[in-house]
Amino acid sequence: MKLIWNYCCIVIIVVIISCFNNYLTLNKIVEYRRFGNSHSDERLQRMAVGPGELGQAVFVDLSLFSNQERKQYEESQNKHGYNVFVSDLISFHRSLPRNTVNKGCTKSYDIFELPPVSVIIPFRDESWSVLLRTVHSILDRTPSYLLREIILVDDGSKKGELKTKLDIYLSHLYMQRGIDQTIEDVIVVMDSHQEVAEVWLEPLLQQLKETPRALVVPVVDGIDMNTFQYKKTELDLKKKPIAFSFDWRLMQTIMPFKREYLLSRENFEVSPIRLPSVQGNVFVANKTIFQELGGMDTGMHVWGGEQIELAIKYITCGDGIYMIPCSHIGHLYRPVPWRAGNTKISNEYRVAEVWLDDYKQFVFEQYGNYTYKAEVAKELIHFYVPENLHARGTIKPVLQNISTFCLDASSMSSVSLLQCHYQSGNQYWELSANFEIRHSVFCLAVDSASHLLIDECDFEHHRKWDYRSDNTIRHRISKLCLTIINKTEVNLQLCVGSVNQQWIWKRLR
Ligand SMILES: *[C@@H]1O[C@H](CO)[C@@H](O)[C@H](O)[C@H]1NC(C)=O
Ligand SMILES: *[C@@H]1O[C@H](CO)[C@@H](O)[C@H](O)[C@H]1NC(C)=O
Ligand SMILES: *[C@@H]1O[C@H](CO)[C@@H](O)[C@H](O)[C@H]1NC(C)=O
Ligand SMILES: *[C@@H]1O[C@H](CO)[C@@H](O)[C@H](O)[C@H]1NC(C)=O
Repeated sequence: MKLIWNYCCIVIIVVIISCFNNYLTLNKIVEYRRFGNSHSDERLQRMAVGPGELGQAVFVDLSLFSNQERKQYEESQNKHGYNVFVSDLISFHRSLPRNTVNKGCTKSYDIFELPPVSVIIPFRDESWSVLLRTVHSILDRTPSYLLREIILVDDGSKKGELKTKLDIYLSHLYMQRGIDQTIEDVIVVMDSHQEVAEVWLEPLLQQLKETPRALVVPVVDGIDMNTFQYKKTELDLKKKPIAFSFDWRLMQTIMPFKREYLLSRENFEVSPIRLPSVQGNVFVANKTIFQELGGMDTGMHVWGGEQIELAIKYITCGDGIYMIPCSHIGHLYRPVPWRAGNTKISNEYRVAEVWLDDYKQFVFEQYGNYTYKAEVAKELIHFYVPENLHARGTIKPVLQNISTFCLDASSMSSVSLLQCHYQSGNQYWELSANFEIRHSVFCLAVDSASHLLIDECDFEHHRKWDYRSDNTIRHRISKLCLTIINKTEVNLQLCVGSVNQQWIWKRLR
């Protein structure tokens, strides 16, 4: 650390940009210069004392609270979707667990051979302590040679403290300097509720050097929304690692990696892993290339779909997406969906319109009757070609008195009948070319006790089904039929062809 801080002559500036209604106006630009290295020293001295240090969970004893305090506590939790009260107890400079770096990550980096970066953090009504812990974790754990600036983009916050108070706070951290600074050629775009771990940036930049047209991401650890415990994500590459991906609803989902691919990589525990998509909370990219590929789609709102658009562009027109097992960043997860509403769907429609050409129909069908038209039709490309399905759409009983019900994968472990919502989602099913009943990237399966469940698609025989001409849905190996028990329950029973074993499902061949 000492060596690094001697390079304090490299200026770190924080710029605050406000933008309202998606229209970028540079309403205020403030630059500050960092003074001294007191913060890193302070952090080293404090190490393992104080709430949340070493990434530990903070538990609050509510029985010590008055009713009034308890009410405030609960309100603060509801307002942000995470526990602001707990966050406020934790230092902006808190230490993280010592094991955030994987065992095999022993490579040392020549930081002077790596390009400096501009970090961009858009925020909207983030809580004060969470936002500043994000900023300080970057300042505390990034070699100053590599960190040229942090740009905080205020995306229409309404909270007063994020205006003047934030300016004043930052002005104590930095001294003001000139305005005409250009951004570096390498950008890091990240959410405003994160904490970076030691040596987070160097491995990402090393990869970008090798694959300049790639989008590079770290392994994302979890920060608990109630206790702020920092939970390292173990990739467990030998067991059952999963990757972020997306399905035909353009929904972010997770799917297992192909084991052969993972094991075929040299030094497989630590070497970069190619991904089908990104989570969207953080990425590193060459700015020139990023803009060449169209940058962020400014026609999208709030969140949802933007990470899929990026993924499609980088996979088809760039060097793809790489996850670096030796780089870790903690992300505060909130309950999903967080204030996205219909904007998420319209963003996803836009991705389909712009990028999926003839295949966009698959996306639209999954969403039922939503009618959104993107106004932009860019150059169209073919991507993720769908296979020859046997049937797709909702699965509904023939039985008259429950004909408004649909087969629903409401919980990952089971299926049931629920009122049809025609929004697709959990009520959308496909009979695949090799006779699996798929929900998203998962499959309808049967356990040894003949119970229905949703599980990974492993192409094994016991996941195969037929939708027969008498409208029964029959499990191949047990020869049992999908049967309606009552208004909510379905199970497997001997096929007798009665009306409670008959289903309406759109046949495709
Ligand atoms: C970014 O990409 C541009 C265009 O290919 C290239 O000229 C530049 O050197 C790259 N920058 C870095 C830091 O790699
Ligand atoms: C979809 O919308 C069209 C036009 O608004 C309407 O006629 C049709 O009944 C709707 N379909 C469903 C399944 O809601
Ligand atoms: C459906 O049947 C199950 C068990 O067979 C029962 O637990 C459940 O209460 C029933 N539901 C309704 C709505 O009748
Ligand atoms: C539907 O109606 C039939 C006969 O009218 C009845 O036997 C059956 O229990 C009803 N099913 C449900 C799920 O309500």
